[in-house]
Amino acid sequence: MQFQLSEEQLMIQKAARDFAQNECLPGVIERDEKQQFPKEQILKLAELGFMGMMTAPEYGGAGMDTISYVLAMEEISKVDASVSVCMSVNNSLVCWGLEKYGNEEQKQQYLVPLAQGCKNGELYIGAFLLSEPEAGSDATSQHTMAEDKGDHYIINGTKNWITNGGTASVYLVMAQTDPSKGSKGIDTFIIEKNTNGVTVGPKENKLGIRGSDTHSIMFQDVKVPKENRIGNDGFGFSFAMKTLAGGRIGIAAQALGIASGAYERSVEYAFGKEIAQHQAIQFKLADMATRIEAARLLCLRAAWEKDNGDDYTLSSSMAKVFASETAMWVTTEAVQIHGGYGYVKEYHVERLMRDAKITQIYEGTSEVQRIVIGRGILK
Ligand code: CAA
Repeated sequence: MQFQLSEEQLMIQKAARDFAQNECLPGVIERDEKQQFPKEQILKLAELGFMGMMTAPEYGGAGMDTISYVLAMEEISKVDASVSVCMSVNNSLVCWGLEKYGNEEQKQQYLVPLAQGCKNGELYIGAFLLSEPEAGSDATSQHTMAEDKGDHYIINGTKNWITNGGTASVYLVMAQTDPSKGSKGIDTFIIEKNTNGVTVGPKENKLGIRGSDTHSIMFQDVKVPKENRIGNDGFGFSFAMKTLAGGRIGIAAQALGIASGAYERSVEYAFGKEIAQHQAIQFKLADMATRIEAARLLCLRAAWEKDNGDDYTLSSSMAKVFASETAMWVTTEAVQIHGGYGYVKEYHVERLMRDAKITQIYEGTSEVQRIVIGRGILK
């Protein structure tokens, strides 16, 4: 066992840190306030190869490992979690799912531009459409229907809380094809946003990650050719679960970044001040640093398992539940250390505290992660 990062991983970490400081930090408070999607930042991330970091170069990606992805997610999330969630969904849920389970035509047509994050000079990203008004944690209860019409399907239904919902060009949509088969009667379809019958609802007005682009998406008699189904008939739920296992590593790394961003700001704030001499503050900083390090090790462990071809279902859920609870705790303590300054926008920690909350909710709540871990232990 060795705990050193490779030269290449350190370079990627530095590139992500520089990007966060130079491109994300300017204007981050205003983007949060105005709920402004960070389009410029995402286009620059695409130039760096970070929108398809783990995708093979022959499909437009940068061919990096999952450890590098965790390092980059942490650095960017320290500064702007609205940027990193967009990056995470495109990388883990969209590009990875297409690369692993899509066929060659689907990869050429969709994965290549998605991994590049750009097509004909324009932003080109994806979204993952699983959640519904009545199917959040209970993801098998899909109400969106896909009716088999021979050479095509007709899709009807509504998806909720979709990250990248308004800006994505391509949606991966889970829908029920045969309700009698439960989770085995679900398929995943590639649907272009500009298809007839697709409607994007208004942008959600959120507590945190306010720059990110979250919408409901409605499907009314949307015609989707059969060749846009991913995998065999009935593979859709399994596709969602396998893809989410990797997604949870990305969100764990996001939570880790939010926590370490708040911690670094707290150290900087306390340093040289009278309050830093008090044991009460030193103990807080010590606990913050310890929990963050534990979260980091869980994230890297899950990433390492994924890179080694091991089963990472359990480790990704462990990383996500621990890192997200750490993020919520650390950011709350960071606000406390800053006192009144922590409660106003200029010091960033109140935003990090608001951003931390979503990491306990999306890509499976903390309760869902505990179900996954518990079942894994008893299996
Ligand atoms: N891989 C493959 N198959 C899996 C699987 C996995 N990891 N997990 C479950 N399955 C299979 C099971 O084996 C089972 O098949 P059988 O019927 O043959 O046994 C089937 O799927 C149903 O599984 P369960 O009985 O375990 O299903 P369940 O209803 O009890 O719940 C759950 C499972 C873990 C709670 C699941 O519903 C879940 O993960 N829910 C959370 C959904 C989620 O994370 N949503 C996030 C939305 S995306 C998002 O947030 C993106 C964003 O915007 C940032």
